[in-house]
Amino acid sequence: METKKLNLAFVYNVRHKKPSLTDEQAIAEAEFDEPSTINGIAHALRKLGHEIYRIEANEEAYAKLKSLKNKLDLVFNVAEGLRNQDREAQIPAMLENLDIPYVGSKPLAQALCLNKAYTKKVLSYHQIPTPRFQLFYEPNERLSRKMHFPLIVKPVSEGSSKGITNDCLVNNQMELYKKLAELIEKFKQPALVEEFLTGREFTVALIGNSPVEVLPPVEILFDHLPNNLAPMDSYEVKWILDNPESNLKTIACPAQLDYKKFLQIKKLCLKTKQALGILDWCRIDVRMDSDGRPHVLEINQIPGIMPDPKENSRFPLAARTAGYTYEEMMHKIIKAACERYGIPVSPVLEPAPEKATNWLIESFSGQKAFKLV
Ligand SMILES: Nc1ncnc2c1ncn2[C@@H]1O[C@H](COP(=O)(O)OP(=O)(O)O)[C@@H](O)[C@H]1O
Ligand SMILES: [Mg+2]
Repeated sequence: METKKLNLAFVYNVRHKKPSLTDEQAIAEAEFDEPSTINGIAHALRKLGHEIYRIEANEEAYAKLKSLKNKLDLVFNVAEGLRNQDREAQIPAMLENLDIPYVGSKPLAQALCLNKAYTKKVLSYHQIPTPRFQLFYEPNERLSRKMHFPLIVKPVSEGSSKGITNDCLVNNQMELYKKLAELIEKFKQPALVEEFLTGREFTVALIGNSPVEVLPPVEILFDHLPNNLAPMDSYEVKWILDNPESNLKTIACPAQLDYKKFLQIKKLCLKTKQALGILDWCRIDVRMDSDGRPHVLEINQIPGIMPDPKENSRFPLAARTAGYTYEEMMHKIIKAACERYGIPVSPVLEPAPEKATNWLIESFSGQKAFKLV
């Protein structure tokens, strides 16, 4: 089969303001990427030899994509979508309309995963463990008797810890109803209340469709947090405490797990990907309950991929831990989409196949149950 470099549109949303807890535009753009991230991704795509067309996912995006339609082989989309609740489905829906192949999940899965309550309903149908929950449309609805404190309250359709500040962990009805009123008013959407799991937390990056490659799990560490911060990846922790200048060890990769636990988490993630119809790549947040049983918290169907290793971006960290360069990671994601569409890509860019298993051998080969499958 003849293979070639691709004509690739790179679609993204870029931040125009630095992260802040008070600036409205900064809060609205929290999910968007920094200009340095956008430049870094474009640079990596170019290094892979592809011809790149950069498109910001704003109101002009459809017209630009349409004008390029006949040139493009594929779209690499990391856009969170401009606004509103189904925003991550916007670019994929435009691309479906224009019949242009793209990397990542279809509009339905994009919209589904952006709504944490719908996601949890689908997970529950498939008997995939996820924390018990209740959705509040109004701040004065009655709390179900099945729900036990401590609880966490979060906006149902946000990401990047938007709205999930330290005080979202609530221990009594008074704190709960105060937070519900605040979040429903502020985010103009229902609030999701979940039982708070107190065990270890991981995030797991997946690449590919059949087979799916599970990258080394990243553990989110809470030991270093000052006493006034709850053990969770809150907005304060993710965007203010966890920066390249602070020398805090906030994550570890690969997570120290025994092999059986790793297999349990892997199975959970593969089942989740399948149940939600995720394509090509994603990162799944998993947390254990007090008995060490893993549950799915949520799915990042367009994970962050900051190229600078200093940023501790979790998907690239997992890939790096497996031994992939940033470009090799990008190639694998693109290749997953190309295989679905039957688009030939150059095998020259292919990373060594042992990289998929080397880290497994290094992490687990001393353990009795270990088997390379
Ligand atoms: N039910 C829960 N139990 C324990 N911790 C939780 C729960 N839900 C969320 N968290 C904490 O809050 C963080 C952010 O929540 P998450 O649902 O992943 O939102 P986001 O889309 O903003 O990443 C998680 O990484 C975890 O630390
Ligand atoms: Mg998360």
